Amino acid sequence: MDLSRVFDLRLHGMDDQALERSVRRFNREREARIAAEELLEQKGRELYKANTRLQDLLENLDEKVRQRTEELRIALAEAQRANRVKTDFLAMISHEIRTPMNAVHGVAQILKNEDLPDNQIKLVDLMLQSSTSLLAIVNDLLDLSKIDAGKMKLEIVYFSVAQLSQDIKELFSAKAKKKNLDLIIEQTVESEIVVAGDPGRLRQILINLIDNALKYTVSGSVTLGISVFDIDPDTKSFCFTVVDTGPGIPEDKLDRLFSRFDRIDIKSSHNIEGAGLGLALCKQLAELLNGKIGCDTVVGRGSSFWMTVPFKVAGNAPKKIEEPQRQTVEPKTMTRALRILVAEDNIANQVIVRVMLEKLGHLVDIAADGNEAVAAVKLLDYDVVFMDMQMPNLGGMDATEQIRALPHRNNNVPIYALTANAMDSDRVRCLDAGMTGFLSKPVSRLDLIATLNELDIG
Ligand SMILES: Nc1ncnc2c1ncn2[C@@H]1O[C@H](COP(=O)(O)OP(=O)(O)OP(=O)(O)O)[C@@H](O)[C@H]1O
Ligand SMILES: [Mg+2]
Repeated sequence: MDLSRVFDLRLHGMDDQALERSVRRFNREREARIAAEELLEQKGRELYKANTRLQDLLENLDEKVRQRTEELRIALAEAQRANRVKTDFLAMISHEIRTPMNAVHGVAQILKNEDLPDNQIKLVDLMLQSSTSLLAIVNDLLDLSKIDAGKMKLEIVYFSVAQLSQDIKELFSAKAKKKNLDLIIEQTVESEIVVAGDPGRLRQILINLIDNALKYTVSGSVTLGISVFDIDPDTKSFCFTVVDTGPGIPEDKLDRLFSRFDRIDIKSSHNIEGAGLGLALCKQLAELLNGKIGCDTVVGRGSSFWMTVPFKVAGNAPKKIEEPQRQTVEPKTMTRALRILVAEDNIANQVIVRVMLEKLGHLVDIAADGNEAVAAVKLLDYDVVFMDMQMPNLGGMDATEQIRALPHRNNNVPIYALTANAMDSDRVRCLDAGMTGFLSKPVSRLDLIATLNELDIG
């Protein structure tokens, strides 16, 4: 405390003791103020440093974010590339397996119709069953990889849902009977209702669901239910349910039910064949159809798989109703053997189609490409030509156009395309190119019989 302040206090008549107390208090306050100022200064310095650091960080942050974004972009591109490679590989390998597998399947079909000793019948049945399930897996894989690659396209045609459900029932009736299960259809859909949609994909989903229901149910029934609700004047929502009295699925397994390669490890599915692809495919196909799919299930009582799909009603549009699937057909009695040309480059397929046709009593010539097919038609009067679409040198489509353009009486020979995918839009192109019809590969004996019956010759 300075002297002038002491005198001041004396003037105000303060005694010595009070003066001393006052001086001590002032001194304490001054020390406290100095300490506070030092603290403030120190904090100020720290704040300044922190601020500088923050500014540095801020300046770097932009750069860091840019760097990190670039790293993530590269990692994403790499992951996408790896995924594409995986998808392509899967598609390629499935395709490569399918061709020879079709041949094995075809040979088994031929043998099945031979007069075989009992012990060989069992072996051929086993071969037929195994090739059927392997083909189903390969086809599922091909479909899944097509969906992954965004290449799965819907084929929109007009069709009757009621008709489709009847076709499916027929398809499974033998299987249900064999397992002693009741296969029931409960539907409120009028058969006149014609909708625009992809019947092939819808059929594929329902077939998978019913196949599972029949596969996993030991006794009781499998019911396909179909109901319809109006969404707006043009659109109806179809609700499909496949209800079984099977083992049901534990609740904690439900979340991975629709994942790929996921088989639920329950006692009842222990010895049952399957790759765990069916439901994954169903889900993706349902989404492709703008639909939803799910499952309600109680262990020990059964499962109810449901799917809702919207379809535009056909209204007054021209109704091109999908042909019902061919069922059991018997060969018509022909008065003479037909002379048939098979244009096909794959040797295994050549053998299979030839043997199937020869077994039906017909005469078969083989052309290994389109050029040979055109030359053969010029040379001989064939009753019918079966034409593979993809052949070296000259494909089936071009060969057909050349045959139709021949200044020759054989230019109107019936030509049936053999196409790998019956739902492909190149079926339409087949007809545009002048073909009479098409058969989907792998060609079955029944398809050949039905086609020859259609021809009305012989
Ligand atoms: N109706 C059902 N009742 C009981 N379990 C079922 C039923 N449907 C499916 N599951 C269970 O869900 C699993 C997955 O079914 P999903 O159809 O995907 O494969 P999968 O039938 O095993 O083989 P895939 O269909 O490829 O031949 C099955 O392995 C089975 O355990
Ligand atoms: Mg299945």
